[in-house]
Amino acid sequence: MKKDPIRLVQISDIHLFADKQKALLGVKTYDSFLAVLDHVKSCTKQPDHIILSGDLSQDYTKDSYTHLIQLLTNLPQTVYFVPGNHDQPELISSFFPQKNISKLKQIILEDWQLILLNSQKPNRVSGYFAEEELNFLEKCLKEYPNHRSIIIFHHHPVSVGSQWLEKLGVTNADVFWSLLRNFSNVHTIFFGHIHQEHEGSKQNIKYYSVPSTCIQFKINSDHFSLENLPQGYRWIDLYPDGQLKTGVIRLDHYIGEFQKEAKGY
Ligand SMILES: [Fe+2]
Repeated sequence: MKKDPIRLVQISDIHLFADKQKALLGVKTYDSFLAVLDHVKSCTKQPDHIILSGDLSQDYTKDSYTHLIQLLTNLPQTVYFVPGNHDQPELISSFFPQKNISKLKQIILEDWQLILLNSQKPNRVSGYFAEEELNFLEKCLKEYPNHRSIIIFHHHPVSVGSQWLEKLGVTNADVFWSLLRNFSNVHTIFFGHIHQEHEGSKQNIKYYSVPSTCIQFKINSDHFSLENLPQGYRWIDLYPDGQLKTGVIRLDHYIGEFQKEAKGY
């Protein structure tokens, strides 16, 4: 009998506030996240696992994480996460694990391996892989040489075509890419941070980003600018024969008030 693929859903850049009514450049981030979650829940094909790829909070508050927990702990799936530049590592550690929200960073799913990395550099918008993260990555890749490995983290490890985002990715991405050269079991990379859909390939490894659940950044823009595209998320299907299929789903309309003239946040 043909086996169904394992379905993952990647949700990113939620930017929740302590105040559920507070908006980020015209978008009430609680409402837009709720709309994305409702969309995920309404799909016929339900995910087996959900991964949050950073920037869970916007204001580094306990209440923002409490809202997140309230919305996620009634889901039937296990939820995994990585921190973004807007997250407070100590706060996150004090909240998780909790019920279905796991702190695991190495997940084995049949012949697949998910490796979740922290690319956060304290007090910086840009990212960085600390030595312990790179050591962890290396350990996981060595440990399961025959598993197809998926690596997930927050910051972009490649240029994404926008001048202003150039310096805000993983600043030591060269070390990361040279480490990957030693392994043939890296299948695909997924990240958040850039609030837009993007894909490419490097060293024969495919990589993908995902829209945010709140504001969307303008594609190929040299300066900060918003894109009038609805909020969304990514689905990822992992097949037993090694195929990976993925795509982005957007809501049918923009949640909030689109701010064409926004210059930053
Ligand atoms: Fe973000």
